[in-house]
Amino acid sequence: MLVQRFASIVGSAGIVADADVARGYRADWRGLFEGEALCVLRPGTVEQVSQILKLCHAERIGVVPQGGNTNLTVGAVPDRTGQQIVLSTSRLRRIRDVDAVDMTIVAEAGVTIAELQAAAIDVDTLFPLSFAAEGSATLGGAISTNAGGTAAVRYGSTRDLLLGLEVVLPDGRVWNGLRRLHKDNAGYALRHLFAGAEGTLGVITAAAMKLAPLPRAREVAFCALPSEDAVGDFWMLLRAAGEGAVRAAEYISGTSLDLVVYELGLRAPVHASPHYVLVELTSARAEAGLRDRLEGFLAEALEQGLATDAVIAQNEQQAASFWRLREDQTEAQKRAGLNFKHDVAVPVSKVGELLVKCRAALEARFPDVLVAPFGHLGDGNIHMNIIRPPMPGRDTLPDLEAHIGAIVYEIAAALGGTFSAEHGIGTIKVKQLETTRSAVELDMMRVIKDAFDGQCIMNPGKVLSIVEVLPI
Ligand code: MLT
Ligand code: ZN
Repeated sequence: MLVQRFASIVGSAGIVADADVARGYRADWRGLFEGEALCVLRPGTVEQVSQILKLCHAERIGVVPQGGNTNLTVGAVPDRTGQQIVLSTSRLRRIRDVDAVDMTIVAEAGVTIAELQAAAIDVDTLFPLSFAAEGSATLGGAISTNAGGTAAVRYGSTRDLLLGLEVVLPDGRVWNGLRRLHKDNAGYALRHLFAGAEGTLGVITAAAMKLAPLPRAREVAFCALPSEDAVGDFWMLLRAAGEGAVRAAEYISGTSLDLVVYELGLRAPVHASPHYVLVELTSARAEAGLRDRLEGFLAEALEQGLATDAVIAQNEQQAASFWRLREDQTEAQKRAGLNFKHDVAVPVSKVGELLVKCRAALEARFPDVLVAPFGHLGDGNIHMNIIRPPMPGRDTLPDLEAHIGAIVYEIAAALGGTFSAEHGIGTIKVKQLETTRSAVELDMMRVIKDAFDGQCIMNPGKVLSIVEVLPI
């Protein structure tokens, strides 16, 4: 029996026997999809991962790598055949090295983002990646999806922090590319093939990542903006006034703010407005004069009519309460009803236009949906999320979703944007990728997939659709 062969590799601690617990690995976080699995494995060592993949390779069994299972595109759960295994990295939990001189951290795939942040603080440094799911999301998952988050405007997305990788290839061979160098130009940048590959080329078991100087000063403000037109100019003024200290510029639409206030019982710190931006400045120098800079910027923004109200957090507690209004968006929208996510990005100069055009087109066509965008203004990455309030007796209406998606993606594309900025492709955007990227681009992707995983056992059906490999 195959399951017994897997069990003999990982031992009883490495196989999830309880059906209820296993369900948590088969269903995605948003509750969009529940698959079946041959078994759920939790290997405790890289050697065990290698043995598992050798067996899967020999028997042509699909492998679905999974980190914290916080993925938003149904990219980390098995299909409904019951023929795939889930390979959870949740027991690969060692932080192997933290170096405050070289500014690097080497950790295994199952370490959470919050744990990496804490380990970095212990040696007076910063692990810069940060997003709402950081308490559960893992390093392996963040690299695999090239997660962005709220500090990407300052430090880049996950791949910008990536120095080296340890990967188990689909045939079970282990590639130790865990170099901790800030410069390493020897041949193809293989690590970057695995970043954003969503587990379709191999299983990431550990990574070497960059650290940054620990901020010693921080200022947070919550601002109300009068119109879409003001959004782009507000950002440009902030970028100039921030002089490199901007750590976050997070956009929240009026609808999104109302939702989080209503669903989670929070309080808005400024008067009601159609648009808001949460601003954070940080500096490694305690005496960086951030408060003066922020006050100067806000005075100028109010003067120019780019903001109509703004409050600066007076202490950590107030700053945290501002951040909750932004970080709890995903949770609030999940509670509010059927939620269609569109993780689009456009050039930052086009964000205002994106907001205007999407709202106009969607409200005209679908009067009973809520257009509730929010996102990472400084990166031009807006989550153009649409909520359909629960309507008893009606189903999930996949055609409504497709229709809404087509409108949003067409507008983003016409503005020079993308349909996938930081959440990845998973299963829900495979068609979008295959119908919008050029034949040349798709060919290159398929050649890469085939070179690494000719049998298509790695996360089958994610990123690219399955092309049947015929027996010779
Ligand atoms: C976030 O920025 O909070 C998430 O990436 C967005 C989402 O849930 O759509
Ligand atoms: Zn986001």
